[in-house]
Amino acid sequence: MNDSDPLHHFLRTRRTVRKFAPRPVSEETLRRILETATYAPSARNRQPWQFTVVSNMETKRSLADDLAADFRPDLERDGLPEVEIETRLDRTRRRILDAPVIIALSLNPDRVDAQPNRKRQEAERSMAVQSVALAGLQLMLAAHAEGLASVWTCGPLFAPDAIRFRLGLPANWQPQAMFFLGYPAETPEVPGRLNVEEVTTFIR
Ligand SMILES: Cc1cc2nc3c(=O)[nH]c(=O)nc-3n(C[C@H](O)[C@H](O)[C@H](O)COP(=O)(O)O)c2cc1C
Repeated sequence: MNDSDPLHHFLRTRRTVRKFAPRPVSEETLRRILETATYAPSARNRQPWQFTVVSNMETKRSLADDLAADFRPDLERDGLPEVEIETRLDRTRRRILDAPVIIALSLNPDRVDAQPNRKRQEAERSMAVQSVALAGLQLMLAAHAEGLASVWTCGPLFAPDAIRFRLGLPANWQPQAMFFLGYPAETPEVPGRLNVEEVTTFIR
């Protein structure tokens, strides 16, 4: 099997894109992408994912300000000079404002089964996180199938309260990721991959 196989080619050519054309994404396309994302596998088919789709500029602006405000103390603690802090915060804000669509991906613990002890509960939570991540990958692949591109960002793990507050999410939802999505305005090189031999052990 090589890259000339169309399905493998498709999977290998999904790229993380961080610059988008200022072209709107239709609601119909977004719905198709989200529906395909829901076909991801999940432990016991509990589907513990929640998507929150933001395309309005006012919400993006507030979100950008909130996340930048949340990020600032971390940068100050790192001892960065003020000008560097402002540059980084500006980059964070710009990325949010320039993304045609933002999709927050959260874990809904109402769809995580209760277990009788801590060890099993931790395993259950890991399964839910894994399931949510698979929906995230499926979403990126569905976007790729539409000629769109995206980037997975992990900011929500560091600023869950800001995300919950600004997007009006229920208090128990756990934001896991935020995708910026749109028509690509760059064609990134493939970031290097480890060889199969480096990441695989065949036990024959
Ligand atoms: C869990 C996860 C978190 C990521 N967080 C970020 C992020 O916060 N910011 C960012 O620009 N890219 C982020 N990325 C994108 C990776 O940098 C990217 O997938 C990697 O460099 C490989 O590039 P590719 O997706 O084009 O194959 C994240 C990817 C994953 C899977």
